[in-house]
Amino acid sequence: MKKEIEIGIIGCGAVAQIIHLPLIKKLSNVKVKAICDIDKRKLNAIKEKYNIELAYSSPEKFFQENEFDAVMILTPTNTHKEIAELASDYCKNLFIEKPAAPTFKETEELEKILARKNVNAMIGFNMRFRPDAMLMKSLVEAKEFGTPYLVRVGWFRPRSSSQSWFVNKSYAGGGVIMDLAINIIDLAMWMLDYPEIYSVTAYNFYHTTKNVEDSATAMIKTKKEQVINFEVSWTLSSEDEFFYCNLFGTEGVGLLNPLRVFKQVGTSRMELMNSTRMTSSNLYIKSYENELKHFFAAVNGLGKWVSTLKEACARMKLIETIYKSAQSNKEIKL
Ligand SMILES: NC(=O)c1ccc[n+]([C@@H]2O[C@H](COP(=O)([O-])OP(=O)(O)OC[C@H]3O[C@@H](n4cnc5c(N)ncnc54)[C@H](O)[C@@H]3O)[C@@H](O)[C@H]2O)c1
Repeated sequence: MKKEIEIGIIGCGAVAQIIHLPLIKKLSNVKVKAICDIDKRKLNAIKEKYNIELAYSSPEKFFQENEFDAVMILTPTNTHKEIAELASDYCKNLFIEKPAAPTFKETEELEKILARKNVNAMIGFNMRFRPDAMLMKSLVEAKEFGTPYLVRVGWFRPRSSSQSWFVNKSYAGGGVIMDLAINIIDLAMWMLDYPEIYSVTAYNFYHTTKNVEDSATAMIKTKKEQVINFEVSWTLSSEDEFFYCNLFGTEGVGLLNPLRVFKQVGTSRMELMNSTRMTSSNLYIKSYENELKHFFAAVNGLGKWVSTLKEACARMKLIETIYKSAQSNKEIKL
């Protein structure tokens, strides 16, 4: 990479501590110059642990007193827009954790603001950076599966954060759909090269929660006669979470986690790939590592900006249609 990148991180909670800070520490060309969090105790602990020079509890001061090549916004979803707007006065390259904002309206407003100011932004849809997903996508692009007609994606786990804001609609925009489904829908849409949506039929469950869904399922039909089916839940009562992304095409099948590829060759069915080498948790961590490397390469002008706010707007429009369908118990046509 071209030069050392000096970054600022705003929000030092779970995703910063478990994922981003440990991974960035391993990157020789990226330096965390300053961090910011409204929780002073957390802030000081992280400053010390990662030997970071500057720590701020005021986002305004954090921006006014520093110049950053890039800023990572890792705060609760309802704060992203305001912080990104503030950041856009000081920095041209932003990483915003997913979801970009709790609603389509706010996501679209933010997209317009940043576009007007020529600020680049990448949204943290990390699933498409899983090494096995990237391999499967390259096989889709090489037409190894023929024409894909069905993607089945699912993610079942215990609730991912102990923080109460995750189950508060005004903070998170929704429940497990905003936490898990948005990420695997992004993966499925990416696999299919973002087809236009024809209709959505969704069903939500509220087994352990009141105001937001804790499980959900939907059938999304595209205008290219393809279907995406997803299932997500926070209520898994087993030790290991499970995730899958299975893609069915006219000439083959790709199964994810682990990646297995089957293909029809003439009259025979062949298993072309069976990769059971990496554990799920390794692949998950690797997805963030690849995502961060991609982000910093884009910051350095060495890679394309992907997972943009424009894409996030399209994902949020679909998410809102899913909620509309679940609420009305009807198929909603777009
Ligand atoms: N891509 C993924 O797989 C993934 C995983 C987990 C979380 N996330 C996303 O990351 C974001 C953060 O999630 P989390 O689990 O780390 O939440 P968290 O609650 O653990 O951490 C958020 C931190 O932001 C701080 N904060 C809140 N408001 C602030 C403000 N105005 N200025 C500065 N700091 C502020 C809080 O004090 C807290 O330390 C969310 O948008 C979430 O959806 C993404």
